[in-house]
Formats: sequence, C-alpha cells, structure tokens
Amino acid sequence: MNRNALRILLLTVLCSFARNETLNPAIADEQLLWVGGQVGEVHTYRIPLLTFTTHGSLLAFAEARKLSFKDKGAKFIALRRSTDRGVTWSPTSFIVDDGALADGLNLGSVVVDEETGAVILIYSVCFHRYRCKPSSTMMVQSLDDGFTWSAPRNLNPQLGLMSFAPGPGFGIQKRHPPAVGRLVVCGHGSIIGDGVFCILSDDHGNTWRYGAELKSIPYNQRKNNLDFDPDECQPVELDDGSIMINVRNDKHYHCHCRMVARSLDGGESLPVEELVFDHTLEDPAVAAGALEKEGVLYFTNPANANNRVNLTLRWSLNRGKSWVKNTLKIWAGPSGYSCMTSLKGNQTEDHKYIYVIFEKGQKDYFESVSFVKIDLYSEQ
Ligand SMILES: *[C@@H]1O[C@H](CO)[C@@H](O)[C@H](O)[C@H]1NC(C)=O
Ligand SMILES: *[C@@H]1O[C@H](CO)[C@@H](O)[C@H](O)[C@H]1NC(C)=O
Repeated sequence: MNRNALRILLLTVLCSFARNETLNPAIADEQLLWVGGQVGEVHTYRIPLLTFTTHGSLLAFAEARKLSFKDKGAKFIALRRSTDRGVTWSPTSFIVDDGALADGLNLGSVVVDEETGAVILIYSVCFHRYRCKPSSTMMVQSLDDGFTWSAPRNLNPQLGLMSFAPGPGFGIQKRHPPAVGRLVVCGHGSIIGDGVFCILSDDHGNTWRYGAELKSIPYNQRKNNLDFDPDECQPVELDDGSIMINVRNDKHYHCHCRMVARSLDGGESLPVEELVFDHTLEDPAVAAGALEKEGVLYFTNPANANNRVNLTLRWSLNRGKSWVKNTLKIWAGPSGYSCMTSLKGNQTEDHKYIYVIFEKGQKDYFESVSFVKIDLYSEQ
C-alpha cells in the first residue's frame, strides 16, 4: 500500500471512529420516478441521470422516447426536481422537445458548476446520422436550480461535426489541481469511430474544446466481438486530482468487465499506461454509475457478465484498487443504466446518504426508472 492510500485509509477509519459509525450501505427508500408503457405522449423512459444542485436540490433527467423503446426516434428530455432530498418530486416537465426527428436526441451528461450554480446538460442530436447529418452536440443550462432552462445551443461551431454521445451520467468540475474549476464531460464517439472522448470548458460552459481521447482499435472501422471498444463512461475526480473514468467495455476486450482509464492532467489525455481492467467489476456491457464521496469510491452496475440483471452497489476504500467483499444488491431482476449523486451540504443527512437512479423492470430492464436512497451507515 502506498503512502497516500494509507493516509486515506487512516483518515477514513479515524473519521468513522469519530462519528462512531461503519460503512454499511442499505436501501433507505425507493420510488419509481417514471414508468413507460405509452402513457400520454411517451412510450419508454430510458437513460436516467441524477445530480445534486448547489441549492441542495436533486434533479432527475431521462430520455422520454415518444414512439418506441429504441435509441433512435423522437424524444423529450424529462425532468423531475426534488427540493426535500428525494422525499417528494415535482411532476415531470419536458425541458427539450426534438419534434419528430428520425434520429432524435440522446442523453447525456449533466454537470454542475459550483462556482456559478449553473446546471449544464449536454446531449446529442442525430448521433447515429440516420436520415440526417451532421450529428450535433447540444447544451442547455439552468441558472435557477433547474426551474427554467435556456434554449438549446449547438456546440458544433466550437467542437466540429464528430458524433459525440456524452456520458451517460454526470460531468465533473475539477476541485483539486491541475485545472481547478474546469468542467470535464466525457462520452463516446460514433459506432465506428468509437472511443472515450472528453470535452473541456475553462470558462463555466461558454466555450468547449476536445481534450482527452482513448480511441477504439481498429479505429474508424467496423468492430468484431472482442475488439478494443471503450464506450459509455462515467468520470470521477479522486482526491489526488486525477480523473478516473469507469468505461463500458463494449466488445468485451480482455474480459467481461469494466475498463478504467485515468487522466493525470485534468482531462487533456488518457495515457494507455494508466488503463486497467477491473476483473471484480463483472459487466454485461452497459452504462454504469461511479461516485466519489468522502474518500470512498462507489460503483453501480448490473453485476452479471452476460445479462442486464442484478443491480449492485460496490464500494472501495482505496480508490478502486480493490472492492470491499460485501456488496448491496439493489434489484435482483432486470436492470440497466444507472447514475449516482450525493449532496454536499452541511446537514448530517448529506454525509449519510447517496442516491442512485436506474433502469428497472420485471421482464425487461427498461420498464421503469427507479430512484433509491442509500443509507451509507445503516445499523442493519
Ligand atoms: C449478483 O451480484 C453478486 C455480487 O457480485 C454476485 O455474487 C451474484 O452472483 C450476482 N448474481 C447474479 C444472478 O448475477
Ligand atoms: C454550511 O453552513 C454554513 C454555516 O452555517 C453556511 O454558511 C453554508 O451556506 C452552509 N453550506 C451549505 C452548502 O449548506
């Protein structure tokens, strides 16, 4: 164990003694936020995102797919807000409507600028270039805690025409050097030109440019099973200032498990020397959740090598080098994409809980979107 890891472990242990508590995550509450099935104008809700705001609210987003469960097609972006830490939620509002596009919008990555309080949502339109071109990377933002939203802004004049699917999940704002204050949103490229790509903003989301990339092999060519194909991803900043990106290993290169990339320069590069395969994190190829809170790294995915079932929470006390043996099964049945957040206020509550949003079903994983409050220090 290196000195930093030892320091963190000691701090974690000391803190938990000071508070007389041990990490023992348990489900404290669960609510379905969206249920599909062609109710009203929506066929299926998918791709849930969850974020805190600087005012201490929770915002949940999802794609509201109008006509089918498929990735293409017309959609709304659905939003529900909670100002009481997830006890009650506003009715759904549709903050973006793409009309009747054959290749409509796709979520997406939400990032909060803690200096300005802005909530920024990045998504794509025409990602698959199906009966349309080019693909566009779009941004909307809210300056009033998610209540009202700006008109969509097309970032292509800054970013170019590459197909870029942010997230799905959250982007980060750098808290530790290098590049304190920078917004970092990572996602993946088109099906053929796949790979992890990050876009960066050093001026609170006004301008964006491409930074780090980890390209698929063979790049810009059709993939076979077992090719190297880094895909949907979730970045987290660790307390040493590095950015760890937990990545969908789409073609099961090397293992049926997660790839973990790391940037040491604030999202400018993803050196291949830093890439590892985490064999503990078995994965069927899916978008997963990752979160760092108070020195502990959390991870959610359908923990199964082949099927999207068994949504499981894991935690690591050494920045993901290993995972605590104990796990929390959130849902044994069909489960898909997930995203986590936590609040950073001073209330003891904000230290005690993390929140998970995920795709949940009885028969198919995309039947509903569920919100789960996790008590980290339960006494069960
Ligand atoms: C669910 O996840 C747990 C924890 O990794 C694992 O032990 C178990 O075998 C998994 N079950 C299924 C059905 O995937
Ligand atoms: C934390 O508490 C301090 C002092 O009571 C207050 O000024 C600050 O706004 C609080 N921060 C949050 C995020 O609630």
